[in-house]
Amino acid sequence: MKAYAKFCLLVVVLACGLTVFVDGAPIPPDHELRQHFPSLSNNDFAEMTNLLDQIKQVAHDRFYGKDSVAVAQHSTDMRPSVSISIAQPGVQVPISRYLFEGDILLSPLQANVILRNLLRVLRKNRRRRSSWPALKQLITSSSMLLSRDKRSLYSSEKARWKNFPIQYTFHDSLSVDAVTEIGLAIDYWMNHTCLTFEKVSEPERDYIEFFRGQGCYSMIGRVGGRQGVSIGDGCERTGTIEHEIGHALGLWHEQARPDADCCIVLEPDNIINNFISDFLQRSWEEVLTYGIPYDMGSVMHYGSTAFTNDWSKKTVLTRDARYQRTIGQRERLSFYDVQVINKAYCPKHCDIDLPCFNGGYTHPGKCDGCICPDGFGGIVCDRHEQPKNAQCGGMLPALEQWAEITSPGYPHPGYNIDQKCSWILRAPQGKRVELEFIDRFQFFCTTTCLDFVEVKASADVKLTGFRYCCFERPTEAVVSELADMIVIFRSTVSRDVGFKARFRYS
Ligand SMILES: *[C@@H]1O[C@H](CO)[C@@H](O)[C@H](O)[C@H]1NC(C)=O
Ligand SMILES: [Zn+2]
Repeated sequence: MKAYAKFCLLVVVLACGLTVFVDGAPIPPDHELRQHFPSLSNNDFAEMTNLLDQIKQVAHDRFYGKDSVAVAQHSTDMRPSVSISIAQPGVQVPISRYLFEGDILLSPLQANVILRNLLRVLRKNRRRRSSWPALKQLITSSSMLLSRDKRSLYSSEKARWKNFPIQYTFHDSLSVDAVTEIGLAIDYWMNHTCLTFEKVSEPERDYIEFFRGQGCYSMIGRVGGRQGVSIGDGCERTGTIEHEIGHALGLWHEQARPDADCCIVLEPDNIINNFISDFLQRSWEEVLTYGIPYDMGSVMHYGSTAFTNDWSKKTVLTRDARYQRTIGQRERLSFYDVQVINKAYCPKHCDIDLPCFNGGYTHPGKCDGCICPDGFGGIVCDRHEQPKNAQCGGMLPALEQWAEITSPGYPHPGYNIDQKCSWILRAPQGKRVELEFIDRFQFFCTTTCLDFVEVKASADVKLTGFRYCCFERPTEAVVSELADMIVIFRSTVSRDVGFKARFRYS
């Protein structure tokens, strides 16, 4: 795990040194931004970076106290490369000062709202605790700035796309690989929502321009006119691109939800101080969640080591430790990532709603089948999901006696790359499923699991479950909250022993 992380870091550092210079001439980051985000004026850029600096300073004071100094002098600031998930490369240093939360280009209005909310929280704290005189000036100057701005509040509603298909173009800078992967990411969004996209050469309305910038980043929601989505070196993977398109459709990062306290805690001491402002939560007025709960397996979630000052230390802890290696995944959109977009963009798309089971719902784009939670399949989600590249999985009754399941090829030759199996373990009504891992247990080991066995024990089977990988067999038994437990095996990068587990009802 450590070696992998260090390798990533090394690659990022090398890439930094190389690609900022093309034809011997440095490309100033603001040039890249101006070129691909023409709807932001020079004034907008000045205002946005000014607000970002203030957000940084205020957040820094709030977390670390007045005496420590935030690095505001970006021009002389030699920041280390950072990334928000081991599965998503960080942007290069020159561009990072313009970005929020690692990969978001804010509009001045969005930056304004974020600063205002931060100050509101601060004022509340200030009344409670001893006052911080030096902050007064900041607060006063910012409220002047805020009252000057008479535009209405930013909300997810306004940033929604209005015309479909959503048009997009490929900038010449993109690699062939990137073009292929972007196509797959768009297909995935189209296959699971009512959204349609269309590649055009002459856009007729607001559109997305995919280009190869200094990392992966995007704006939030529809901005108007041409808006870039940067798919830089190392970002050419469908899950990462789905994440960036998610931003362009209006999604913020999952751990920035106002209710993130339910599920995660920060470790401020492990966060590079200068990036503490990238761990703020949005307010309820900035996001619409449509009743969708917080999902640890969201493709929009930070990983455990986001902005860490030491790759062996975590910055985001999950309250339930069993989710620690679930967060940060970039394989693909989670069930709930898809559903929040469907609720926002596709209400009442079908004349007839199908009777979908197990939390599934009628596919708003096709109307002839259901979208099923991970692990479920069949037209109406009443069965287990079909396996991939293996013969495995099934619907099994949990009995009084133990029964066993294993990953494909267990233990020799072990599992192979790109396999998937799903088991639905069903206890009698009123009983629960108890599962424990036995014998050898071994999966490719990463901070966020890339190969794993996932256990969904929650009463809400739509939520992503605990993902287990690495070399230590989990010792605690897992008990389902209701009569069903879903177990998913998935491999994406490696071959290894896999798992064996036994289960019964209790
Ligand atoms: C989208 O759906 C088509 C048709 O079912 C399928 O062939 C394709 O593999 C899917 N693509 C993605 C990226 O999900
Ligand atoms: Zn992001």
